[in-house]
Amino acid sequence: MANRFGIRLQHRLPRLGGVYPCLAANPLSSMPPFSTRASGQRATRRVALGIGFSFLSQFINMAAANLGAKSFIASARQKGAIEKVLENVEWPEQFPFKEEDFQRFDESSDSLFYESPRFVTHIDDPAIAALSKFYLEVFPPSDSPGVALLDICSSWVSHYPKGYKQSRIAGMGMNEEELKLNPVLTEYVVQDLNVDPKLPFEDNTFDVITNVVSVDYLTKPIDVFREISRILKPGGLAIISFSNRCFWTKAISIWTSTGDADHVVIVGGYFHYAGGFEPPKAVDISPNPGRTDPMYVVYSRKLAA
Ligand SMILES: C[S@@+](CC[C@H](N)C(=O)[O-])C[C@H]1O[C@@H](n2cnc3c(N)ncnc32)[C@H](O)[C@@H]1O
Repeated sequence: MANRFGIRLQHRLPRLGGVYPCLAANPLSSMPPFSTRASGQRATRRVALGIGFSFLSQFINMAAANLGAKSFIASARQKGAIEKVLENVEWPEQFPFKEEDFQRFDESSDSLFYESPRFVTHIDDPAIAALSKFYLEVFPPSDSPGVALLDICSSWVSHYPKGYKQSRIAGMGMNEEELKLNPVLTEYVVQDLNVDPKLPFEDNTFDVITNVVSVDYLTKPIDVFREISRILKPGGLAIISFSNRCFWTKAISIWTSTGDADHVVIVGGYFHYAGGFEPPKAVDISPNPGRTDPMYVVYSRKLAA
């Protein structure tokens, strides 16, 4: 089936647990909307601002140019390319995405879609291992007094390092049966963030907030990211990770219309436009590029008070 940009989606290929590959589209070519600098490059280029998808494709092409590559897809496969995507970005003043960018093919209630539990994993084992390893490097040590974590869009698994625990690890998701069985959670809340993006926690509560292969389902991402900023402690870390798989009917249009590197820009933009965060960074933790599931992390710390 073609999406609203007339691009074919590979949605018929079944994937682990019914998660289907998202489209990895080749970004359109056009003028870049704002300037970026690759490392060591001083000059900036400023050009006319586009919006939504065209904004994104313009930016991607600028980034590709900065990387010295003919296409961003090609350059994204270069080692270290993903890390460069969010370096020295000059974001447009206004949030560049349009309302329709956050529409989904299936606009029925998410409660219906997530009514039955899915005791499956949505990424393959090497990708899970890579994410757990990343967490191990950046999480506060296990069992640290006063440390609290939150996993948003959680399920029966959070992919935290083996044996990791804290006195408070909260989870939010759509299916209670899944959350109930998540061994790392000390508490959970079932809440549809597309209906109510307010996170039910006090200001400055959490040291780390995670979100795994789910940011693409948020239709009000800026509201949610503002909430993430509000409930993180100053200096607290938000870690958004994703692969190239999704429930494509439930993912937002701007996500299913674009590729992996574009997704890094989209999530980076959420941090930027929500405000209250340090400039976001991206890292490609794909364990076996081209052979097993890719895995990307976009992360940022809440600005210190
Ligand atoms: C692909 S699963 C990922 C689950 C888990 N993070 C993992 O890594 O296995 C997507 C998750 O997003 C959550 N989700 C989807 N739409 C949501 C919504 N509107 N509000 C809150 N959570 C949502 C669901 O609970 C579901 O568990």
